[in-house]
Amino acid sequence: MQINTFEEYQKAYDKSVKEPEAFWSDIAEKFSWQKKWDNVLEWNFKEPDVKWFINGKLNITENCIDRHLPEKAGTVAFYFEENEIGKPSREITYQQLHDEVCKLANVLKSFGVQKGDRVCIYLPMVPEAVFSLLACARIGAVHSVVFGGFSAQSLQDRINDSSCKVVLTSDGAFRGNKTIPMKPTVDEALKQCSSIEKVLVLNRTGEKVNMQQGRDFEWKEQVSKQSPQCTATTMDSEDPLFILYTSGSTGKPKGVVHSTGGYMVFTCYSFLNVFQYKPEQVYWCTADVGWVTGHSYITYGPLLAGATSVIFEGIPSYPDAGRFWNVVDKYKVNIFYTAPTAIRALEAAGLDYVKPYDLSSLKVLGSVGEPINEEAWQWYYKNIGKEKCPVVDTWWQTETGGILISPLASITKTKPGFATLPLPGVQPVLVDEKGNIIEGNGVEGNLCIQFPWPSILRTTYGDHERCRATYFATYPGLYFTGDGCRRDEDGYYRITGRVDDVINVSGHRIGTAEVESAINQCEDVVESAVVGFPHDIKGQGIYAYCIVPNSLKSHDEIKKEILNCVNKVIGPIARPDKIQIVSGLPKTRSGKIMRRILRKVAEGEINNLGDISTLLDPQVVEEIVKGKI
Ligand code: WTA
Repeated sequence: MQINTFEEYQKAYDKSVKEPEAFWSDIAEKFSWQKKWDNVLEWNFKEPDVKWFINGKLNITENCIDRHLPEKAGTVAFYFEENEIGKPSREITYQQLHDEVCKLANVLKSFGVQKGDRVCIYLPMVPEAVFSLLACARIGAVHSVVFGGFSAQSLQDRINDSSCKVVLTSDGAFRGNKTIPMKPTVDEALKQCSSIEKVLVLNRTGEKVNMQQGRDFEWKEQVSKQSPQCTATTMDSEDPLFILYTSGSTGKPKGVVHSTGGYMVFTCYSFLNVFQYKPEQVYWCTADVGWVTGHSYITYGPLLAGATSVIFEGIPSYPDAGRFWNVVDKYKVNIFYTAPTAIRALEAAGLDYVKPYDLSSLKVLGSVGEPINEEAWQWYYKNIGKEKCPVVDTWWQTETGGILISPLASITKTKPGFATLPLPGVQPVLVDEKGNIIEGNGVEGNLCIQFPWPSILRTTYGDHERCRATYFATYPGLYFTGDGCRRDEDGYYRITGRVDDVINVSGHRIGTAEVESAINQCEDVVESAVVGFPHDIKGQGIYAYCIVPNSLKSHDEIKKEILNCVNKVIGPIARPDKIQIVSGLPKTRSGKIMRRILRKVAEGEINNLGDISTLLDPQVVEEIVKGKI
């Protein structure tokens, strides 16, 4: 399954385009199927309807765990590094992983969870989070992980959207020097969640929590009663594996649905090839299981490949900015995968935090989640990789399930700021505004993919039309990514950022419409407009223009209220970095907010606002420019 040279990559790529079915079926053969597929692929991007490995039967956890047991029962699947530095690491071998997953799967069964039921996971970055995903998959339940930084209301919306039956959670989370309560947030959310029958609560921080009799159960107590054997439920290749909510340019977050067989094949294939993982290496991805990276490249991809990984509970700045390098040194990490925002923050902290540690184990450095600026790329390459480790800038999305454009470590020649070339099986095209495909090199356009890859999203939960309208309708016949992209003279791809109303804050995708709707719930605000602006560490920051008429409160008080409101409705990750109180917003005669102008002002480009002649009230712009903070 692993490509070893650039020539092999080119050959594999050619075959994947000319004979996609033969190409992917050769790879799929390497997995353990309870029944082989009849046909490899059926698809159209019109409805859309994509099916891979049709009528194949399998369970992904047999491939993640059981398949490895004959050789790897005693091999470490995960090292767990706690938030607090200096704690001994907890090791979980493949055998222990098997037992823990089976016991937890049996708890879910005892709660009445059946194949197809949805289970919400709201946990900190502890091994139990990974066990939870796998326990669901073991019995065919569909997991829906909600990132721990989301508020009660966001959690409630997500639970209700997919009518989850059970929540797996924790009393709280350790995060740097803070202890963050989680169970109280779940309690708040569950006040209006009629589908939830049971809640399993992990004792992590030891804080006293409310336990509702008949609904809430103590994790360890339940798990300890169960058998470490649980027959894996037979799943169809196209049965859903999970839902993961993600923000778009309009409305509430969408539940992106991934199915089983294709996702398995692609996450494993991409993991092995992008990172060039070799047996016995130690791999560490710093993501949280609440995001897709934690699904595909902490849980499924590495386990499918039989890898040994580190799970880290903490944050890069605790107890100081040397923590990542301390962990790399401690576990002799070979492959390290993180986000540009972390790299920039650690770069800003200075080299004194890097120097004390031995980083000579490192072989590959990865980046994900947002464009990596050249300066951060160079700093990472030079000071962390000591100019010996390739930097794989991996471009992908929640919807793509796995990495689509990236160098293959030590195989593809890298170029700072470029995700370089598509993986085999991935056919990117650039299109202009009208949807014409732009041929040739040295061009720029909107990034689309013209052929299905195995881990493409199948639908958005409960609303297939929304999936079609969002991804397949803008340019008929193509999957539209929402990203802008340049293809340079060498045919290398550079992602330039979102072309829709989505902003990327520290690698977190946030829809401006969602933040506006949260702000508008604030009593004193009548209307708001949110845009992104360049931020040194976060990549992009959130800039909110808010109309607050006739309030007796001071601007400071109102700003505080707005921040509280966003905290409550979405969570701390969506708090605006800058708030400007305005008396009006620039609108066209048809009443549309001209975001282009607001973006320019937020970026500080006030002398270059472009054409404002179509504005209803150009004076508003003058006032906004004057009041810019
Ligand atoms: C952005 C995260 C540039 C992009 C895996 C995409 C990137 C969105 C890169 C998806 C990269 C991700 N270079 N931009 N290497 N990786 N993005 O769904 O805008 O949280 O559309 O998935 O992040 O974010 P998501």
